[in-house]
Amino acid sequence: MGGGGGVFRFSSMASSSPRLLVLLLAWLCCAAAQAQTTTDTLRQGASLSGSATLVSLPDRVFEVGFFPPDPKQPSRLYLGVWYRGITPRTVVWVANRAAPAVSGAPSLALTDAGELQVLDGAAAVNGTAAPRLLWSSNTSRAAPRGGYYATIQDSGSLQVRSDDGPLWDSFWHPTDTILSGMQIAVQAPGPPGRAGNERMLFTSWASETDPAPGRYALGLDPNGSGQAYIWRDGNDIYWRSGQWTGVNFIGIPWRPLYLSGWTLSNDRDLGLHYTYTATNTSLQRFVVLPNGTDICYMVKKSSQEWETVWLQPSNACEYYAACGPNAKCTVGQDGKAQCTCLKGFQPKLWDQWNAGNWTEGCTRNPLLGCQVNQSGDGFLPMGNIKWPDFSYWMSTVADEKGCKSSCLNNCSCGAYVYTTTTGCLVWGDKLIDIHELQTGSYTLNLKLPASELRVHHAVWHIAMIISAVVLVVLVACLVLWWWRGRNIKDAVHRSWRSRHSSTWSQQNSSMLDISQSIRFDDDVEDGKSHELKVYSLDRMKAATCNFSDSNKLGEGGFGPVYMGTLPGGEEVAVKRLCRNSGQGLEEFKNEVILIAKLQHRNLVRLLGCCIQREEKILVYEYMPNKSLDAFLFNPEKQELLDWSKRFDIIEGIARGLLYLHRDSRLRVVHRDLKASNILLDADMNPKISDFGMARIFGGDQNQFNTNRVVGTFGYMSPEYAMEGIFSVKSDVYSFGVLILEIITGKRAVSFHYHQDSLNIAGYAWRQWNEDKAAELIDPLIRASCSLRQVLRCVHIALLCVQDHADERPDIPTVIIMLSSDSSLPNPRPPTLMLRGREIESTKSSENEQSHSIGTVSMTQLHGR
Ligand SMILES: *[C@@H]1O[C@H](CO)[C@@H](O)[C@H](O)[C@H]1NC(C)=O
Ligand SMILES: *[C@@H]1O[C@H](CO)[C@@H](O)[C@H](O)[C@H]1NC(C)=O
Ligand SMILES: *[C@@H]1O[C@H](CO)[C@@H](O)[C@H](O)[C@H]1NC(C)=O
Ligand SMILES: *[C@@H]1O[C@H](CO)[C@@H](O)[C@H](O)[C@H]1NC(C)=O
Ligand SMILES: *[C@@H]1O[C@H](CO)[C@@H](O)[C@H](O)[C@H]1NC(C)=O
Ligand SMILES: *[C@@H]1O[C@H](CO)[C@@H](O)[C@H](O)[C@H]1NC(C)=O
Ligand SMILES: *[C@@H]1O[C@H](CO)[C@@H](O)[C@H](O)[C@H]1NC(C)=O
Ligand SMILES: *[C@@H]1O[C@H](CO)[C@@H](O)[C@H](O)[C@H]1NC(C)=O
Repeated sequence: MGGGGGVFRFSSMASSSPRLLVLLLAWLCCAAAQAQTTTDTLRQGASLSGSATLVSLPDRVFEVGFFPPDPKQPSRLYLGVWYRGITPRTVVWVANRAAPAVSGAPSLALTDAGELQVLDGAAAVNGTAAPRLLWSSNTSRAAPRGGYYATIQDSGSLQVRSDDGPLWDSFWHPTDTILSGMQIAVQAPGPPGRAGNERMLFTSWASETDPAPGRYALGLDPNGSGQAYIWRDGNDIYWRSGQWTGVNFIGIPWRPLYLSGWTLSNDRDLGLHYTYTATNTSLQRFVVLPNGTDICYMVKKSSQEWETVWLQPSNACEYYAACGPNAKCTVGQDGKAQCTCLKGFQPKLWDQWNAGNWTEGCTRNPLLGCQVNQSGDGFLPMGNIKWPDFSYWMSTVADEKGCKSSCLNNCSCGAYVYTTTTGCLVWGDKLIDIHELQTGSYTLNLKLPASELRVHHAVWHIAMIISAVVLVVLVACLVLWWWRGRNIKDAVHRSWRSRHSSTWSQQNSSMLDISQSIRFDDDVEDGKSHELKVYSLDRMKAATCNFSDSNKLGEGGFGPVYMGTLPGGEEVAVKRLCRNSGQGLEEFKNEVILIAKLQHRNLVRLLGCCIQREEKILVYEYMPNKSLDAFLFNPEKQELLDWSKRFDIIEGIARGLLYLHRDSRLRVVHRDLKASNILLDADMNPKISDFGMARIFGGDQNQFNTNRVVGTFGYMSPEYAMEGIFSVKSDVYSFGVLILEIITGKRAVSFHYHQDSLNIAGYAWRQWNEDKAAELIDPLIRASCSLRQVLRCVHIALLCVQDHADERPDIPTVIIMLSSDSSLPNPRPPTLMLRGREIESTKSSENEQSHSIGTVSMTQLHGR
């Protein structure tokens, strides 16, 4: 039985084996065919034709082949690169954009000299004529050993390479699409060893279905200002990105763009160039549309459809020079552009202006003092605007004061800006393309003659005089009435009384003297009750010698601070708030009372206030040791702070913040935490000052977003500096910077002068990452410190300065970290590492006259 079964099986196998073989062969053929269609490489001498494509490996993101962009003209074929597997077909690059293949038999060939060619019409079909050359990469070079090959990469770049490296790369010869990984320079580099002379422009398609070069092209300013423009028809500027501030483009305060890695760098081969690296994989491509819009798409994970996330120009003011020179554009209710002349200017041609033709813009009236031999020119800071075009970088000026005076001393200078990342920028007398932004902390200082700077007060005075006159007339009428009619006398009397009493109560609150005070016993830390004294303005003047400069202790974010001595001999610090806070009296009083209730040993105590007329004054306890920066950055006093004192200061600040953020009933975000706002008492205990200022000024601001960004560069978290979004985590960021300052003994804002020119967070991260964190430590404390503890503090600081607010620890966690030995998570590298490096001054001095933005700042992702 067994043997018979065996024979049977054997014979059946023998009879089926030819069929098996055929199947096997067929499968092999198929596999080979498939392997051929999914290759990513075209060998030297080979060609790609018909519907065959190359597919990028290993992830098969992109595909190269011939496609008909216009369904109505299916015979017009173009060689393109598109996303594989996304419908409708999304083309990112086209080779023969101006010359479609029409013969029905196009091919892509790689010649022996490494030149990519798009050919139309195979010779075999029309024996008499050679194929027509539609496009060529123009890179003929003798083949190296191993020959050339063309490949499509998963990034979307089509390259001709040899084993020595790339010879040609489609990323340098783009169509209309910016993809992650591209470098965007003024000029594309040539083939290896040869200089390039091709402008790098992203030129729109002529229409949705025609890839021929369209009217709009995006590229970098050839004058080297680092701005991006879209030009229309060759040289009309259509849109402008605004200057690069080291963190973002002035005109594009849309943060995800930069967190995804737009970075600026400068090197000898490419000059100024940006690199776009999508760290967020769903942000995919920027396209210049046929109608001139620059649009950014990402792909929806769920449906694989493209979603528009951003586009420019997106409103009437974002078109270049919508208002002509010296006028500011705001978007009106109806979405149309509204132009207003800048202060100190008037329409140049009134008739045209009134008819809504703003092309001529505005002109100075009155003239500057320097134009008419008068002195007294000054500057008006204008907030939240897109800086005008044609800025000129003063490479030799390194501080605000110098920048201001260099603009003041040059009569043709119309405005200046100084920030630590851009350096000193000045403008000539035509300020072009200014528009109002929703967010951003960027201020332009506009030069005006003395008379214009005073106008504010003059208007004020006139208004006061008029209202006084009206009041007198009113009172006279009332008195008359009172004499006239006994019937209405009562009513009038009542009304007069109520008017009178309200003035009285107002006077009462403002004229109250030291005898008056507001007392509160609740909510105090040490059981003692506190009182808030209300002082008169005269007393404040007496205490500070009439706010004399010799009594001035410093200038805070919200106004100057003076040293004062009260009649009892008590020394106090008197903060005179800026007048234009826009806050009402009642609101202000309520806030002051709330803030007076914030009592903590690491907060400076508010002792009293003075509210009278325009004046709003806060009186604080006086700190004899001044502020932390006076010690930390002063070579003579630095050594008084040994490591244990510094650590106590770090802890003290953290506790003060904990109280502000969590334990007080107000939940205050400080918003301007920095070394000069940390005061030191006689025992060197740190006390946070200026807290609550943010709150007092909070009238028109909600808790998370503000139009008026107060703060100090270097300490501001990225989301706050760019978008005005603030939260307790923005304070955590500033605290991280402060820890690094305390450890290094160097100012955060001076860091870009440092030889390596990363910002403090970037520098610290790099040192830490390279296990060289010990080199960060201030040499003065290296001997006295516990290395382990300092390194732990550096680690905590790096956690606090991470880009994403939600990755930063909150203050309670920081305090636990400071006081325990628990293991800490690894900090992410700050992607927004500013790198301020000056443009290499190899250019001649005429070139320096070109409008150029000075400090080139580079942000780099030091991936691990
Ligand atoms: C072959 O090419 C020549 C020249 O381009 C053209 O005149 C002729 O019509 C073509 N013949 C065919 C059969 O396509
Ligand atoms: C290649 O060179 C030819 C002739 O100089 C020119 O017309 C063509 O535009 C060049 N092609 C590219 C892709 O630069
Ligand atoms: C570059 O500078 C020249 C001369 O200063 C000027 O005419 C031109 O408009 C500038 N181009 C751009 C794009 O700013
Ligand atoms: C990627 O970007 C989108 C849109 O800005 C955002 O909603 C998403 O949270 C981002 N993802 C990550 C991981 O950052
Ligand atoms: C250009 O086209 C895009 C997409 O169709 C549209 O969102 C945008 O508003 C258009 N822009 C103009 C100026 O027409
Ligand atoms: C606006 O005025 C300029 C000259 O100042 C003129 O060239 C232009 O045609 C005018 N535009 C319109 C829409 O009238
Ligand atoms: C300004 O003063 C200089 C010398 O002081 C004089 O030469 C010049 O004419 C004056 N210009 C005007 C406009 O008054
Ligand atoms: C004054 O400013 C203008 C405009 O910025 C500039 O062209 C000129 O060179 C400056 N003159 C001096 C003496 O610096």
